[in-house]
Amino acid sequence: MKALVYNTLFDNRIALIDRDMPKIVSNTDAIVKVTMSSICTSDLHIMHGLVPRAKNNLTLGHEFVGEVVAVGKDVKQIRKGDRVAANCITFCGECYFCKRGFINNCQNGGWELGCRIDGCQAEYVRVPFADMGLTRIPISVTNEAALFVGDVLSSGYFGAEMCEIKQGDTVAVIGAGPVGLCAMMCANYMGASNVIAIDINNERLKIAQEQGLSNCTLNPNEVDIEDIIKKLTNNIGVDSVIEAAGTKETFEMAWKIARPNAIVGIVAMYDRNMVLPLPDMYGKNLTFKTGGVDAIHCKKLLDLIDEKEISTGFLITHKFPLKEIETAYKLFQSKPNNCLKIAITH
Ligand SMILES: NC(=O)c1ccc[n+]([C@@H]2O[C@H](COP(=O)([O-])OP(=O)(O)OC[C@H]3O[C@@H](n4cnc5c(N)ncnc54)[C@H](O)[C@@H]3O)[C@@H](O)[C@H]2O)c1
Ligand SMILES: [Zn+2]
Ligand SMILES: [Zn+2]
Repeated sequence: MKALVYNTLFDNRIALIDRDMPKIVSNTDAIVKVTMSSICTSDLHIMHGLVPRAKNNLTLGHEFVGEVVAVGKDVKQIRKGDRVAANCITFCGECYFCKRGFINNCQNGGWELGCRIDGCQAEYVRVPFADMGLTRIPISVTNEAALFVGDVLSSGYFGAEMCEIKQGDTVAVIGAGPVGLCAMMCANYMGASNVIAIDINNERLKIAQEQGLSNCTLNPNEVDIEDIIKKLTNNIGVDSVIEAAGTKETFEMAWKIARPNAIVGIVAMYDRNMVLPLPDMYGKNLTFKTGGVDAIHCKKLLDLIDEKEISTGFLITHKFPLKEIETAYKLFQSKPNNCLKIAITH
C-alpha cells in the first residue's frame, strides 16, 4: 500500500512510498481503511525535527476518518464495517490518568499515531485501543464534517473548556487558525456572549466573522489590542483568554488583556520558554492552564455536529488525492493566506 513516510534520509524528509499493510498486533487493535485524512501543523513540526519523541521512518498523520476492516478479539464497541473518526491521542482507558480523563498522559499511550507508530497518511492504519481511539460517525454526518473531531476540534474544545466559560462571558481567542476557530465555535456553544478574535491575518479574521464565530475581530498590526479591549470592556478586560497562536507576543497579550481573576487557557505550543513576569501581574490573580489536548469528547462533538450545533467543514480549503500528498505538504508548508486545512482523499 502507499504511505507518506517521514525519514531524515529522504531528500525532502517525506516521500510517498510502498509499505506493508498493517496487521493486528494486539487484541485491542483495529485496522482502518483511511477514507480521508488531513495534514496538521504538528506533522510539519516532526519534519523539521522539532518533536524529539517522534521516531524516524514512520508513516505520518493523526487526523482521519475511515472504515474499520478488521478488529482484534478484545475490541467490543467497534465493529468491522463501522465508519469511524479517530482520536489523535492513543489511550488505554484504564490507567491512573485515563480514569481521571487526562488521556494525553495515558501511561500506555499518548500522541502515538504518526509520531511513534505508523500514522494515517496511508491506505490503511493500525489503531491501538480501538474502543477508546475510534468513534462511530453518525449516519447523517459526512466524512468532511467529521474529519477534525479528534484533533483540531478537540483542541479548540479543550481550550474553551479550560476557560470554564459562563453564560454571557466575553472571551478573547488569540489566533484564528483551525484550532482558534474551533475554540471560538466551542466558546459560543458554551454560552459566551462576546467572542473577540485576534489575528494578524485578516483573511482568517474574515472567516471568523463570516462563519458567525466572532462578533469582534482585531488585528494587532492595525490596532493597540490592550487599549481597544479596555475600551470594549469598560476598563475591565476579558473574562477569559484562549491562546491559540503560539508566539512570545501572543503569550504576553493573553495575560495583559485578561481581567483580574480571569482564566488564561493556553492551547498553543511554543518553540521556546515563555516568561511569566509575576511582579507585573501581582494583584491580577490570574489562573493559567496549559496542556496537550485531553481529547475525550469525540462522541459528544460528533453529536453536536449531527445536531448542527457546530460545524467544521468550512476549515477544508483544499483537497488532494493521496497520490498528490507531497504537493499538498508543499502547499501547507508555504502557508498561503487562503489555506486553513487540506483534506487528503484516499
Ligand atoms: N495543546 C494541544 O494539544 C494542541 C493541539 C493542536 C494544536 N496545538 C497548537 O495550537 C496552535 C494553533 O494551531 P493551528 O493549527 O490553528 O495553527 P496556525 O498556525 O494555523 O494558527 C495560528 C494563528 O496565529 C496567528 N498569529 C501568529 N502570530 C500572531 C500574533 N502575533 N498575533 C495574533 N495572531 C498571531 C497566525 O496568523 C495564525 O492564524 C499551534 O501552536 C499548535 O501547535 C496544540
Ligand atoms: Zn494534529
Ligand atoms: Zn491510559
